[in-house]
Amino acid sequence: MKRTHRCGELRKEDVGEKAEIAGWIHRIRNHGGKRFVDLRDRNGLIQTVMEEDITDNFEDAADLGREYVIKIEGEVRERPEEMRNEELETGDVEVSVESFEVVSDSEVPPFSLDEEKTDEISEEIRMEHRYLDMRRQSVSDTLQKRHQFVQSVRNTLNTNEFLEIETPELTKSSPEGARDFIVPSRNEPGNFYALPQSPQLFKQLLMVGGVERYYQLAKCFRDEDTRKDRQPEFTQIDIEVSFMDQEDFLSLMEKTVSNAAEEAFNVELETPVDRISWQEAMDKYGTDRPDRRYGMELHEFSSTVKDSGFNVFSNTVEEGGVVKGFKLEGKADDISNRGMDEFEEVVTEEGVGGLVWIKLEEDGYNSPVGKYIEDEYLDHFKEELDAEEGDVIFIVADERRTANEALGSLRRHLGEKYGVAGDEYDMLWVVDFPLFGYEDGNFDYEHHPFTMPQDREKVENMDFDEVTEEELLELEADAYDLVLNGFEIGGGSKRIHDLDLQRKVFDLIGLEDEEVEERFGWFLEAFKYGAPPHRGLAFGLERILMILQGEPNIREVIPFPKSKTGKDHLTGAPAEPRDNQLEGLGLEVKEEFQED
Ligand code: AMO
Repeated sequence: MKRTHRCGELRKEDVGEKAEIAGWIHRIRNHGGKRFVDLRDRNGLIQTVMEEDITDNFEDAADLGREYVIKIEGEVRERPEEMRNEELETGDVEVSVESFEVVSDSEVPPFSLDEEKTDEISEEIRMEHRYLDMRRQSVSDTLQKRHQFVQSVRNTLNTNEFLEIETPELTKSSPEGARDFIVPSRNEPGNFYALPQSPQLFKQLLMVGGVERYYQLAKCFRDEDTRKDRQPEFTQIDIEVSFMDQEDFLSLMEKTVSNAAEEAFNVELETPVDRISWQEAMDKYGTDRPDRRYGMELHEFSSTVKDSGFNVFSNTVEEGGVVKGFKLEGKADDISNRGMDEFEEVVTEEGVGGLVWIKLEEDGYNSPVGKYIEDEYLDHFKEELDAEEGDVIFIVADERRTANEALGSLRRHLGEKYGVAGDEYDMLWVVDFPLFGYEDGNFDYEHHPFTMPQDREKVENMDFDEVTEEELLELEADAYDLVLNGFEIGGGSKRIHDLDLQRKVFDLIGLEDEEVEERFGWFLEAFKYGAPPHRGLAFGLERILMILQGEPNIREVIPFPKSKTGKDHLTGAPAEPRDNQLEGLGLEVKEEFQED
């Protein structure tokens, strides 16, 4: 079908030109024998006018409806002064319709495609008809920006000698720590492929294979509960390089992201990006993904309060714990004493016993612990935190990591509740992560088992039988995360390229040789044949887009997302297998799970 113009591109300069345009009918208004038909394509919206003495088939106009696809031939003309629409880029002009043709008719759509009405529509309905939802300008913009962002990333990497290479989807379990999605094999009934949680192992093999610089827009699959920034199926911009040190690599990566943010979103992310250590992030912000726009830095009061006589504080310090806190500016009058329960809940959920709050009011301190602790200590908190009348001080006492994490959560909660962040961006690298840590109560690798320790020699000389958990927890890794506005948008590390060291690290975590062989033998084999030093990272594409676009939920930036419970409302997946699909796979659905 021939089009001379796109709906959204017509301007005053085009007045007098003949135009052939096509698109969807957005709205129709009847005005004294004239029909105003707003026509929409990907490019935007233009008002067209059908009139009895100008439009050849005017009598057919009565049958038109919303979302019909029509083609129009007509002339671009200037709108009368009082009829201009400043909110529309094409608002100075309209197309006077000489003839039109219906290409496809449409049933009445199940929801309005007017932007203002989006909030009234359930997300389920929108996702069930995502192809209609996509016709809205905001979703169409989202898809276009996603494209621009990805193209910019590709450009930067291509000009830096990276090769785009695909890795398999039907493969063996990858070590990212989530549950796998598995796919049964027909040729080997009883055996399964796993969909990749990331292409980690393959990209390392590409380095062993001499590729030197690799990237891929990789689909990753992790069977975990969805969250506002997490989907079971998501896209990584996955990257790996050989022979490059940390500094060169991080600066290339931050430029890749900041260029793309600028090109796709016109957002300036300042470079060079600050680097702070994991320890500093935990101490100052109580999290490994700090949002520094909130302020509210944590301070430690342990040494001052250890003799305060207030048991909660002094006992904690005596037992090796810490007393830490921060101030929230200017909210003392806005938060009632009962309102503090909400904040106490945030910290108790992280495992601390309670929250001490102190309001700095006109006539002095207001705090439930006021009667147990002398004013000189409260004065000290106030001075240390540079607090003033109207501020609120929050304090917790617990083992260091728990106290940090509880205050970190409270900081985030308050920052979001009171909108302290504004609309700036805060991007930083968190570096020097621990090698090992606790994940849901289990001692494990902090990143993944192929991460290079900072101090290789120390690890090489460790004796598995002698080493204490504390010593292991102190080990640092050459691992880094890129954090944007409090979200982890990327993470990576230098990898172990020495087989003996790799075996040692497996050893330290207590993985038996047979298990290592069974899970990773095929991978480790490659390191017998000359592996280059290499490192890499992966960006979570949709997380970046969600933040740059100011969307509260990652689903909005994914063309066909899954629901909160992992359902695809469009296709109805997951669904029961069709008639004979399980036959020959050696599988049977237990009766209790069979649908009637
Ligand atoms: P990691 O597991 O940290 O590292 O993942 C890298 C980045 O991917 C994004 N991400 C997600 N985005 C949406 N939904 C999810 N469920 C989800 N999970 C992760 C995050 C995260 O920073 N192989 C390593 C990388 C490497 O070492 O090179 C890996 O996958 O933004």
